[in-house]
Amino acid sequence: MIAAVLLTLLALPGLLIVWSALSLYVNKVKARTTGLPLLVRRVTPTNPLWMMFGSTIVLKCRALNIGTKHFRRFYVFGWEANERHVVHQELGPTFMLVSPGGNWLCVSDSSVFADVIHRRTDFRRNMEQFAVLNVYGKNLSTTDDEEWQKHRKSLFQAGGMLKYWLERQPINTIADDTKVFTLNVLATALFSKSYPFQGATESNAQIKIQDDSYQYRDSLGKILLINEERECMERGAQKNQHLVAALVRACAGAKLENSYLVHGKKNMMLSEEEIISNVFEWIAEEICHYLPEDDTTQWAYKTFPKLKRCLVVVMESLRINHPLGQLAKQTGNFSQLLKIGSRNITIPSGTAIHLSLAAIHTHPRYWGEDSLKWIPDRFISTPDGADKSFENEVLASDTQQHFLPWAAGQRVCPGKKFSQVELVATLAFIFRDYTVHPQPQNGESIEQACNRIFKTSLEIEHEGKILHEMRRPKTIALI
Ligand code: HEM
Repeated sequence: MIAAVLLTLLALPGLLIVWSALSLYVNKVKARTTGLPLLVRRVTPTNPLWMMFGSTIVLKCRALNIGTKHFRRFYVFGWEANERHVVHQELGPTFMLVSPGGNWLCVSDSSVFADVIHRRTDFRRNMEQFAVLNVYGKNLSTTDDEEWQKHRKSLFQAGGMLKYWLERQPINTIADDTKVFTLNVLATALFSKSYPFQGATESNAQIKIQDDSYQYRDSLGKILLINEERECMERGAQKNQHLVAALVRACAGAKLENSYLVHGKKNMMLSEEEIISNVFEWIAEEICHYLPEDDTTQWAYKTFPKLKRCLVVVMESLRINHPLGQLAKQTGNFSQLLKIGSRNITIPSGTAIHLSLAAIHTHPRYWGEDSLKWIPDRFISTPDGADKSFENEVLASDTQQHFLPWAAGQRVCPGKKFSQVELVATLAFIFRDYTVHPQPQNGESIEQACNRIFKTSLEIEHEGKILHEMRRPKTIALI
């Protein structure tokens, strides 16, 4: 009896391997019917065990230089975000990822994007992957003057965060601080509760559950899967990143040269730092033009949509590092005909579809050879013959066929306007009077520090996280 149990147990891994090989074969045959290029993975991307430990194994292999290049590149969780357009340049705008557990159609072609998004009954959202987003609630899809009272409260958060950063230089807790900031802002908007801004360290040390409102905020943190990060923080092992940090980082990465903390924008010009100064001057000019009052309580909601330069800083940062990476759809129970290039192709039933934001937002076909450079003013133009003035600057749409950071169509993000106003207001608050710069390490020059930080900002981590985050935010210090 014991021998039989032991034999069965020993046979299990063998059976698993045979089952995997057979399933992979069947899926390959299915995928070949499309005639599209194939990318084969022997482990299913959504295999729960691999989702938990896979990336750690791959990263170890990378560090030790073992395993094939294919394994080191495509088996890490979140590989699409790290590849961006590169894999599509090699395999084509659309290809099939084949694995034992299923097939994925990976897309970076803008017309296929539009087709899939607009045929919403043929290609439904892959709910398994994105159901979590619904926890945000849809009541925030509009923001009017009344709602602005909530935004205004959240500007106190920006003020608190700025003060905190100014008192603690260099700043290497941006990832955690911006997470606290985000939680407080959302809690303010959702529950009309204000919280004093406390940076990550103090927040953990001092904020024990004090009243129901803190419980709300903590619950929100849990919903956003920040509980895991909070536990990390308690162990002193913070390793996350958020959007505002990405903006600051991206600023630093934009070929910026030479730097020091410079208080007060009026004194901020440093002749040898033209590029960085230009970036900050460029948005500060606009902020001062539309928001001349030092007293931020005088700032009116209707002004924020005018701050186009601030918004393009957000847009350009989302273009290069999007927190979602892809829009996940599926064919479901029926096969679907899809025009890909000049061919009509039948996409088999049960195929998952990844509309890769990471690829389409960085593909040189749409963005030119400088697609991986952070150039916010690519979204701003002045019509020929028009005077150079802030009012005449034209903002490119935040929803184009090859640029859709807030998605498009029926499933457009209901928090779009909220997040735009919130981020623009925060940028205005911080960069009206201050600039931020990288702190060099080990004798590196400012240019080397900028390059290092920009490279680090491109390394995305997805293992154990719903949204894409920067892999090593703590290696960056800003002043
Ligand atoms: C920069 C900030 C944000 C970005 C880039 C963003 C982006 C997106 C994208 C791309 C989607 C579509 C996902 C998909 O179709 O698979 C989405 C959906 C959604 N977003 Fe956002 N979002 C942001 C902020 C927010 C905020 C602040 C809220 C709420 C306060 C929010 C609430 C939602 C909800 C509820 C959905 C699901 C909509 C549905 O299922 O129809 N988002 N978001």
